[in-house]
Amino acid sequence: MRLLVTGGAGFIGSNFIRYWLRNNLDDEIINFDKLTYAGNLENLIEVENNPNYTFVRGDICNVNEVEGVMNKIDVVVHFAAESHVDRAIMNPMTFVKTNVIGTYVLLEQALKSKIKRFHHVSTDECFGSLKLGEEKRFDETTSYNPKNPYSATKASSDHLVRAYFNTYGLDITISSCSNNFGPYQFPEKFIPLIITNLIDDKKVPVYGDGLYVRDWLYVEDHCKAIELILKKGRSGETYCVGGMTEDVSNIEVVKKILDMLGRDESYIGFVRDRPGHDRRYAIDWSKINRDLGWKPEHDFNGWLEKTVRWYKDNKDWWERVKNKEYLEYYEKQYAT
Ligand code: NAD
Ligand code: TYD
Repeated sequence: MRLLVTGGAGFIGSNFIRYWLRNNLDDEIINFDKLTYAGNLENLIEVENNPNYTFVRGDICNVNEVEGVMNKIDVVVHFAAESHVDRAIMNPMTFVKTNVIGTYVLLEQALKSKIKRFHHVSTDECFGSLKLGEEKRFDETTSYNPKNPYSATKASSDHLVRAYFNTYGLDITISSCSNNFGPYQFPEKFIPLIITNLIDDKKVPVYGDGLYVRDWLYVEDHCKAIELILKKGRSGETYCVGGMTEDVSNIEVVKKILDMLGRDESYIGFVRDRPGHDRRYAIDWSKINRDLGWKPEHDFNGWLEKTVRWYKDNKDWWERVKNKEYLEYYEKQYAT
């Protein structure tokens, strides 16, 4: 099988490529990535000399570039996106372009190239926000109610993907997953930001009251879910993928990491809240469990500890990532 992976130089995409090539030795992967600030070919050193792996630099919004890579492809796995909520609040335009127009360009070409399966990687953030303390969880029947520019553009792309299934008969699947964590995550996101700041002996910025809740999914569990959906999932279906069975607040996550790194609570810095901050996400992943036999293999505490160790062991990687551009972003985001 030949797979076109978009956004494969980012966090989840690079974990997926390494995972897939380790477990599917006869398959070929073309990684199509623009290499924005979030794309990093160092994430793929392990596979760069693998004859079944090719990298092509390009933009999913560019029709000619997309046409050039979709020849003789069986499956598209679409990760490429602008993915950080805080950057979407600062500059929504790049999110509209990449997440909406880019997905449209890929869908059009997938149809023309008679791609056998278009798998779209989406997010639980499209469902909006749950209340603290309520039992409710998101599942595949939950109505969309995105509340920030990032989730609004991801929801738009999901609607387009479903429209291409319904209208033109394109074979599609969607995974709506929760917050991933693990190796090679760009340190603008919460967990790697906390870990790397603490290793550097800096305070950690906690938004608002710190009582926000996310469902945390270890990235390799997510890669396995996508593999199962590609191999056994039904065309046209959406599968919710999540990790947690109980709520853990942001401040509890910080305290766990403080503990793992032997730091005290004086490192916590409460900062101005994110505008329109979604209070709680929780995922009911019983459909993918029932239909495809998937469940998260990793428990949060164990894999958080492994992730902390990875960042301790790979300081060179994130020190290079925290470059001038990153520090300018950090300064702007956390100025007040
Ligand atoms: P990321 O920001 O780490 O990586 C995104 C990748 O896409 C980068 O390599 C970047 O260079 C590439 N890219 C951006 N714009 C592009 C364009 N116009 N053309 C080609 N490539 C482009 O993102 P991630 O965390 O790995 O997320 C991957 C996907 O999973 C995204 O679609 C995201 O919305 C979704 N998702 C992520 C999470 C999470 O917790 N990280 C949770 C749910 C869903
Ligand atoms: P993030 O990793 O940005 O993911 P998302 O907003 O897509 O869920 O943030 C996870 C949670 O951590 C979210 O509730 C916002 C919070 N957060 C902070 O408190 N401080 C920070 O510096 C960041 C980046 C996030």
